[in-house]
Amino acid sequence: MFTASQILDEINKHIASLQFTRTPKGLYEPIEYVLSLGGKRIRPVLLLMAYNLYKDDLASAYAPATGIEVYHNYTLLHDDLMDRADLRRGKPTVHKAWDDNAAILSGDAMLVLAYQYIAACSPEHLKEVLDLFSQTALEICEGQQLDMEFEARKDVSEQEYLNMIRLKTAVLLASALKIGAILGGASAVDADHLYQFGVRIGIAFQLQDDLLDVYGNTEVFGKKIGGDILCNKKTYMLIKALEHVDGPRQKELSFWLDAKNFDPAEKIRAVTSIYDRLNIRRFCENKMREYYDLAMESLSAVSVVEEKKHELKNVVKQLMCRDI
Ligand code: IPE
Ligand code: IPE
Ligand code: MG
Ligand code: MG
Ligand code: MG
Repeated sequence: MFTASQILDEINKHIASLQFTRTPKGLYEPIEYVLSLGGKRIRPVLLLMAYNLYKDDLASAYAPATGIEVYHNYTLLHDDLMDRADLRRGKPTVHKAWDDNAAILSGDAMLVLAYQYIAACSPEHLKEVLDLFSQTALEICEGQQLDMEFEARKDVSEQEYLNMIRLKTAVLLASALKIGAILGGASAVDADHLYQFGVRIGIAFQLQDDLLDVYGNTEVFGKKIGGDILCNKKTYMLIKALEHVDGPRQKELSFWLDAKNFDPAEKIRAVTSIYDRLNIRRFCENKMREYYDLAMESLSAVSVVEEKKHELKNVVKQLMCRDI
């Protein structure tokens, strides 16, 4: 068995060794740029850790692990354009450093590259892996569409929100784990438990991301704080605030949600202060805990000896206290 940090080192080395030597440069430079900025690499690490529950020859799963990370980075290029975000991993986003077209087209190329890497998995499991990956990629588009549609609504329910983040974020973590399990030769039942583990951890992960978007530190988080507030994202925080706010603060929150011309810093300050007064943070942390506990139940059901699960448990525990 390998430790998570050994796996992270290996996949980082592998991704750093990739060469995009084709032309035109304008298409490939943004790809190299975003991949060189690192990030946590949590999805390929989860894929390889799930694989490692069953098999030790990690290198034979590097290609699909790379595919999952390239795919994730492609979603970031398009997501930053859709969210009008200027900062990613502490650096200007591709549409800022280049332009919108670069984010669209380099993103498209990354989606194709991701398929090429995934398709380089062992031929024995090719169909099952590709079917799962394609279904996941479509679900992520569905989640992103819901995320955008929710910006214009004030009546998004907790259930709608949880379904939206399951689609936009959680299924990719789930799929990474399941692909690792399939390639490792896990039983169908184990592969499904690992998928469920990923969905639940993924939901907790996105709840944490929403929280950090308000309470994180830009230097560490690498993204601008308050971006979700500025575009009225229906995060767990905002949904709970809309549910619990009353009196003059209800009017104030409504004012900021309807405001068309405003000073961004002022809106962020005002909405954050409403969250603070309602202690919205605690709702979000409780929900994270709930999904974390559910995830642990799914992991318990996986039929490998307990010692083999320690590393996965540690990674996920650390992920829940992340500030990056
Ligand atoms: C960002 O993902 C997008 C979300 C699903 C919240 P990560 O937080 O995994 O980003 P990197 O890859 O570590 O930068
Ligand atoms: C992440 O949602 C979902 C995808 C990228 C598919 P966010 O929009 O919250 O991610 P960040 O905060 O920009 O990383
Ligand atoms: Mg975003
Ligand atoms: Mg988004
Ligand atoms: Mg976010």
